[in-house]
Order: sequence, then structure tokens, then C-alpha cells
Amino acid sequence: MGRLDNEIAIVTGGASGIGEQIVDLFSQEGATVIAADINEAALEKANNKDNVVGMKLNVASDEEWAQVAKEIKERYGHIDILVNNAGISSEKAFKDIDLEDWQKMLAINGFGPFAGIKHIAPYMSEQKQGSIVNISSYTAQIGQGFNHYSASKGAVRALSRAAATQFGRSGVRVNTLFPGIIDTPMTQGLSESKELLNQLIQATPLQRLGKPDDIAKAALFLASDDSSYITGAEIVIDGGFSAQ
Ligand SMILES: NC(=O)c1ccc[n+]([C@@H]2O[C@H](COP(=O)([O-])OP(=O)(O)OC[C@H]3O[C@@H](n4cnc5c(N)ncnc54)[C@H](O)[C@@H]3O)[C@@H](O)[C@H]2O)c1
Repeated sequence: MGRLDNEIAIVTGGASGIGEQIVDLFSQEGATVIAADINEAALEKANNKDNVVGMKLNVASDEEWAQVAKEIKERYGHIDILVNNAGISSEKAFKDIDLEDWQKMLAINGFGPFAGIKHIAPYMSEQKQGSIVNISSYTAQIGQGFNHYSASKGAVRALSRAAATQFGRSGVRVNTLFPGIIDTPMTQGLSESKELLNQLIQATPLQRLGKPDDIAKAALFLASDDSSYITGAEIVIDGGFSAQ
């Protein structure tokens, strides 16, 4: 028996990195998982997996979210889990960030999770149950030179608390994960520089980079009934980096 038997889960950014690992773990645990991503080519791989359905979604589009939510509800009759994971990153300096950069970052990393909750939480409220997991970042909590990326992830943190408060009375839980540096395509540049990689590992109490599975396991806990009395919570998964 799986921990997510018969559940319908949506994972945004499910075609790569952390999202792909969450898709795989949730499907192994018995869920039918919709891997929603803007990268249609990468979604072909998702479509070849058991109990995984790839769906094209630009999380920054209100219209596409409305369409995807309706389609999933009509096809399966219920939606139990939403993982707002899709995101982009940037290390641009303050002086180089213009309004267009800001708007793109906030549209994908901020509006994306907001629109996911806006379109999916009402279905969960009707069902009187559901779990939403938002992926923020340790950079929402400590200054690490990520500037507008950090701001977008701070928005996710505040949004999660607002949504947990708003939807708790109808049985919908909303929690947030704060990954540290995780070895995925997003951080490829870091792991390709041996010197920088060593510095990062040395600076981390648990002496390694994170793996997508470290995040997926925590997402599984928050998605499943094991966390049925937990909402509005925040879990930092960074090997102790931001505790220093
Ligand atoms: N890797 C890290 O070190 C790290 C640390 C903290 C937080 N995070 C967060 O974890 C999440 C996943 O990151 P990752 O490292 O797996 O990155 P990744 O680049 O491997 O995957 C991101 C996925 O999001 C998708 N995506 C991008 N824009 C989209 C859009 N507009 N609509 C739909 N899908 C879109 C991409 O196509 C890709 O499949 C992101 O929100 C990221 O900010 C990552």
C-alpha cells in the first residue's frame, strides 16, 4: 500500500530537477501525478512513466491555470495535492535588474503559486480536504545575493501563510519547503565549478549539497496524511546552512 493511493496530484515544474523527483516519488506511492510544465519536450519523458500524465502549463498564465484545473477536475473528479514547484532563478546584481526582469521573476515564482492556489484550492475546499506544498528557498530567509529571486521566494512564504489561514477551515492544508542548494539543472553552474562547490560544501554543516530526493521526501510527508495536523508550517532543508 502506498502513502498516496488513489490521490490525484499536480506538480508544477514536474519535468526537471526537484519537480521530476517529486513526480516519481508520488507516483511510486500510488498517486496519479500530473506533471505540469512549460517545457513540452521534457514532458514527453513524463508521459512515458506509469501513473504520470504530462500537461503543458505556463504557471504565469491565469488562463492556462484555469484550463488545467478544469481539465483535471473533469477527468479525475477530485484534486488532492498541489505542489507549486516551478520556478526560475537569477544571480543578477541589483544594478542590473530592471522592471522587466523583476516582472518576469515575480510572474513565474510569485504569481505562479498564487494562481495555482486560486484555481485548485476551491476544488479542494469543496472536497473538504487537500494539501498544497509550496517550494520557496532558503534565500527567502537569509541574504545570499539572489536579490529579485529572493524577493519572489519571500512572496511564496507570505502567500503560504495567507492561504493556510484562508483555506484551513475547509480542510485544505498549505505548507512551505525552503530548499538550500540542491543539485539540479538550476544549479549546474555551481556544481561545474569545483572550487565553488568545495566552498559550499565546507560551509554546510552536513557537508554536502542537497539532492532532489531530500526535498521530495519532505514534500511527500506534507502531501500525505502523516502531516494531517500541520498547516502554515515551514521546513528548511539546507543541511543546516541557514542555521549558522
Ligand atoms: N536547485 C536549488 O538549489 C533550489 C534551491 C531552492 C529553491 N529551489 C526551487 O525549487 C524549484 C525547482 O527548482 P529546480 O532546481 O528543480 O529547477 P529546474 O530548473 O531543474 O526545474 C524547474 C522546472 O520549472 C519549469 N518551469 C520554469 N518556468 C516555468 C513556467 N513559467 N511554467 C511552468 N513550468 C516552468 C522548468 O521547465 C523546469 O522543468 C524552483 O522553484 C526553485 O526556485 C531550487
